[in-house]
Amino acid sequence: ALDISALRRETGCVTLDEGYVNTGSTISAVTFLDGEKGILRYRGYPIEQIAAECDFVETCYLLIYGKLPNEQECTEFRESIRQHTMIHEDMRSFYNGFPKDAHPMAILSSVVGALSTFYQDSLDPHDDRQVEISIHRLLAKLPTIAAYSYKKSSGQPFMYPQNQLSYCENFLRMMFALPTQDYEPDPVFVEALNLLLICHADHEQNCSTSTVRMVGSSNANLFASISAGICALWGPLHGGANEACIKMLQTIADDNCDVKKYVAMAKDKQDGFRLMGFGHRVYKNFDPRATIIKKACDKLLAKLNIDDPLFAVAQQLEKVALEDEYFIERKLYPNVDFYSGIIYRAMGLPTQMFTVMFAIGRLPGWIAHWVEMHQSPTNRIGRPRQIYNGPAVRDIVPMDQR
Ligand code: ACO
Repeated sequence: ALDISALRRETGCVTLDEGYVNTGSTISAVTFLDGEKGILRYRGYPIEQIAAECDFVETCYLLIYGKLPNEQECTEFRESIRQHTMIHEDMRSFYNGFPKDAHPMAILSSVVGALSTFYQDSLDPHDDRQVEISIHRLLAKLPTIAAYSYKKSSGQPFMYPQNQLSYCENFLRMMFALPTQDYEPDPVFVEALNLLLICHADHEQNCSTSTVRMVGSSNANLFASISAGICALWGPLHGGANEACIKMLQTIADDNCDVKKYVAMAKDKQDGFRLMGFGHRVYKNFDPRATIIKKACDKLLAKLNIDDPLFAVAQQLEKVALEDEYFIERKLYPNVDFYSGIIYRAMGLPTQMFTVMFAIGRLPGWIAHWVEMHQSPTNRIGRPRQIYNGPAVRDIVPMDQR
């Protein structure tokens, strides 16, 4: 067996790997990914099977507890989440303070960070009972916090959760119902939302998950760690790509759908332009999540008879790029974010909410990794090394001589 403690005592040599392209940061049993073959499995189960047979709450259980729940476990888990969907009434005053045009990701990370001020009885990362409560609180409250951030931006009154509804139904209702007009979620949207959340639920050591682990490694509480993960996810090279992708597709559509022009711009690296929703650090063949989501997108638009011009632009863009030598050579394929936005648009979600949706989906993955890290007997604080290339030692010159 590998003697990790002995290996750690070996010092002296620093491995420089900017962007951690080949550096393993941990041993993990949560998610298996083979980028060459386009394989993704949660706890051993292929993503295609999970997407076809489970709902999002079951997937949360699987990722966090390492096994699929039996009927009783599943019922208890759902019930517990239902009991925690409200946020403390005083938290609503935060929303009053945010500007109306604040990005919902900024609101999300702030309010999730603030959970540690309201729920001080579940902050100890070494107390299993407290950790368990904080997990259930987060899973239950994130959709409420997210829906409130949308209501804030649209100037509409907040809608309280209704706990007889399922996880996805409840979220859609909190988003779209009004005190004067209730909203009954279309089962087609509920099914699509479950699928999208499942596809986003975990992806091993990506930027936001590594951030959650890094922050958690200092024994920061779960709420603080997840808030940091939300910030990491926001960037357009990571989860923010779904918002950036739809904006790009709209720009192309407004520009006479001149797909070839934008492919050429990406190849020329004009002003750093990239095709958003394209490329992946690990997938060098295809992203299995993109395949599932594209199929679902096709099905949903056909079922609801929606003719979204951006879907046509996206398909054209994919076709042109995949036949282009530049993209073939670099193994750049559509990723999970390429088609997800089209489905969210069909549901009526505003573009600014797309990355928030990703955060709701990724939450169980972040939690599973945070818990796994704390349960590992070899866990230590994350502390990368560097290679210094600044000035050699020098003396301070007095202010009047500088
Ligand atoms: N469009 C055009 N060229 C690209 C793209 C793209 N989307 N992605 C990568 N390339 C090119 C790079 O310019 C580089 O070219 P070079 O070899 O001539 O220098 C080469 O492909 C390798 O790219 P890197 O940036 O080194 O790859 P890395 O693994 O660091 O980045 C990333 C991966 C960030 C996903 C990148 O492909 C990208 O920026 N994609 C667009 C943003 C995006 O969709 N992000 C979502 C990723 S999935 C997720 O996080 C949920």
